[in-house]
Amino acid sequence: MTTMTLVVVGVDDHVPGIRTLTLAPPDRSVLPSFTPGSHLVIQCAGGANAYSLTGATTAPRDYVVSVLECPRGRGGSRWIHQSLAVGATVEAHLPRSAFAPVLRARRHLLIAAGIGITPMVSHLRSARRWGRDARLLYIHREGRGAYLDEIRSLTNQAAMFTDRGAFLSELAAALGSQPFGTHVYICGPSQFIDDVVDTATQFGWPPSRIHVEHFGGELAPGHPFEVELSSTGDVFTVDAGVSLLESLTARGHAVPSLCHQGVCGECRVPVRAGTVLHRDLYLTGDERRDSMMACVSRGSGRVELEL
Ligand code: FES
Repeated sequence: MTTMTLVVVGVDDHVPGIRTLTLAPPDRSVLPSFTPGSHLVIQCAGGANAYSLTGATTAPRDYVVSVLECPRGRGGSRWIHQSLAVGATVEAHLPRSAFAPVLRARRHLLIAAGIGITPMVSHLRSARRWGRDARLLYIHREGRGAYLDEIRSLTNQAAMFTDRGAFLSELAAALGSQPFGTHVYICGPSQFIDDVVDTATQFGWPPSRIHVEHFGGELAPGHPFEVELSSTGDVFTVDAGVSLLESLTARGHAVPSLCHQGVCGECRVPVRAGTVLHRDLYLTGDERRDSMMACVSRGSGRVELEL
């Protein structure tokens, strides 16, 4: 993957536990534009981590990302919080998106928890710029909400909560009353995403109108699923808590891998048939039709791989 060197030109710690970095090229040239919902993969101590871009999307002079400190993570967020200061440099990959707004949608319903607000900021910015109908529901801990002022400046269609009961009741009302053609976008901790997807499904939302973005932290172990390899006809089960990558490697298949986070693109495997539960931050919507990232994504029922 192409990488670029960026300089830390701003550090903002005003929300406890969240550090916002402003990154610019050393020569202060214009950076590549990106799609709303894109993320930047930064090489950190402990590997590569992906962070949603929250600043201007078109011909930006800098990239802005916010990083939640995860004391039990692999060390990337601690390194950013404790070691990066203005003037430091980082290596980053070009922005990539697997969470872009669907342009034909009549309305966009954005649902976020905690640091999961970050991809929604660029969605709101773009919705305002292009006159798209977008509504946000955001739940966060008291005093830990990020981008609150920015959200208020971008839309009057945002409802923000610190009370879980109030949020759940508004969530049910919103999912139960959207006009046909609305797409829902969900970002937050894994359990939050699963709960909102379940609620949306109960209200009859088809999978094609539900979009999720997993980030950083621990992914849920998931359920067992079967894999069939088209070249040999071999069928095996991938147990809960075991990745497809681990299962393939244990059977002697050499699948390249690097980040084990669903962000680098190395472990892509071709899919011939079956339902894939995509949990990566790498593949685009089109690429997901016939590929999956073996380190994080799983299947439902049986998935046939072109291996
Ligand atoms: S190893 Fe990087 S995406 Fe799977």
